[in-house]
Amino acid sequence: MQRDIKKILYDRNVIAQRVSALGAQIAHDLESDQFNAGEIVLVPILTGSIVFLADLIRHLPQKIRIGVVSVRSYHGKSTTSKDLALRSEIPASLAGKHVIIVDDILDTGKTLALITSIITEQNPASLKTCVLLRKRIPDTPELHADYIGFDIPDEFVVGYGLDYDDYYRNLPDIGILKPDAL
Ligand code: XMP
Repeated sequence: MQRDIKKILYDRNVIAQRVSALGAQIAHDLESDQFNAGEIVLVPILTGSIVFLADLIRHLPQKIRIGVVSVRSYHGKSTTSKDLALRSEIPASLAGKHVIIVDDILDTGKTLALITSIITEQNPASLKTCVLLRKRIPDTPELHADYIGFDIPDEFVVGYGLDYDDYYRNLPDIGILKPDAL
């Protein structure tokens, strides 16, 4: 698996430090007045966010719930964006709750836009977005997320939950794949 990686962008120690800081920031914001009343629900987008989510939630001391959604945006071995397909129900009854959508990577922004718009229809008390990575794609407007782990170059990355053809999710670091592994 390691031999398919051209370059490690963030090793496990750097990731752990950043996720800890991100968790502290979210925990701090959750303590603010806005969040004092109402249930908190994290909505991770499967499958790429699972490793990030598992680490992030252990930095949150608040009472939270988790409601997963599943979206398929890359089909099979492709690394380019295709039509999005919702593969699961959106958690019901998010009305009046404080919702944080958690995703692995913000690329074109289509995935977060889709989930955000569907959840907004349920009238949550608040809605925030948290991504581990944001790709800086040249000549595109800056894409918004409330919490961002790292801004990365426009390269296809794997590891720490991110996959290529469903492989490499178990790589503890985040790296760029060699072109011949694609
Ligand atoms: P959009 O374009 O909707 O993409 O913002 C978000 C989803 O696309 C997948 N994605 C990647 N997956 N390495 C991956 O393993 C990447 O470099 C990459 N870029 C986008 C990912 O599933 C994310 O949820």
